[in-house]
Amino acid sequence: MTAETVSALIQSIASRLDAVGIEDAGIDARLLLRSAFGWSAAEQLGQLLTPPPVNYLDNLESMIVRRESREPLQYITGYTEFYRRNFSVKESVLIPRPETEQLVVQTLAFVRERGIETPRIADICTGSGAIAISLALEMPTAEVHATDISPAALTVARQNADDLKAELDIYEGNLLKPLSGQYDVIVSNPPYILASAMLSLQAEVAREPSLALDGGVDGLDVIRPLFAGISKMLKPANSAAYIEIDPPIADAVMKLALETFPHAGIYLLTDLAGLIRCVSIENM
Ligand SMILES: C[S@@+](CC[C@H](N)C(=O)[O-])C[C@H]1O[C@@H](n2cnc3c(N)ncnc32)[C@H](O)[C@@H]1O
Repeated sequence: MTAETVSALIQSIASRLDAVGIEDAGIDARLLLRSAFGWSAAEQLGQLLTPPPVNYLDNLESMIVRRESREPLQYITGYTEFYRRNFSVKESVLIPRPETEQLVVQTLAFVRERGIETPRIADICTGSGAIAISLALEMPTAEVHATDISPAALTVARQNADDLKAELDIYEGNLLKPLSGQYDVIVSNPPYILASAMLSLQAEVAREPSLALDGGVDGLDVIRPLFAGISKMLKPANSAAYIEIDPPIADAVMKLALETFPHAGIYLLTDLAGLIRCVSIENM
């Protein structure tokens, strides 16, 4: 692959990515180039009409080949943005999604509206730590605890907490088992994809850990024990739980929530695309 300018190089990479069916191939081409050469967006713009750096294929070619094999862009560049901060990601963790930021927004709004000055908050199934770390940084007076069953995911979460200088406690274990006492807010983005849908995942999603995605036959394998744990560890008053879900399991989750939390206000919240994305469980 030869190119006389950076702009032409972007076009060549984009057509290779387009040829394997990658949507937004032009955006991925730009981001791969920025990552390979350590450029900011502004620096890249300034270079568009200049020749590519000497030996430009040294790093870049292997990155393009990885992306052509449908490895997610974020695993190749090593990071993703969540709630305005960069989080390291690798194959051992789910790549945090923009729609999951809603759990952070809901939690911050609840704590502020209810005037809870030093909230105890738990993020269950923390993965890269994106939710828990964002909450700890946005609300320095909060006591934030996070759990995950995957030791490899927790290595990434601890690294992110160190890099971003967030103060929180991160525990390895099954759901709420490592925790004690009661919480003002419990958030979680658990695995919830139907086992039947696991067979036809988008190529990139199929590269993420199945432990992070697979919700079993009805999508509730993890949500059922999660709700049971939350019902014991959520303060009975002035408290809330926000759990990410998706439309195929919304009715079953609503039924389970009504049974498990008979005294709470329970709502389904939609994301910016208008899809059901979260069950909100709030106690007066
Ligand atoms: C959908 S990912 C969410 C990761 C992160 N919270 C996010 O939103 O980007 C689900 C996470 O749940 C973890 N997990 C799966 N089963 C678990 C269990 N029984 N107890 C604790 N964590 C679990 C997986 O290791 C994975 O990191």
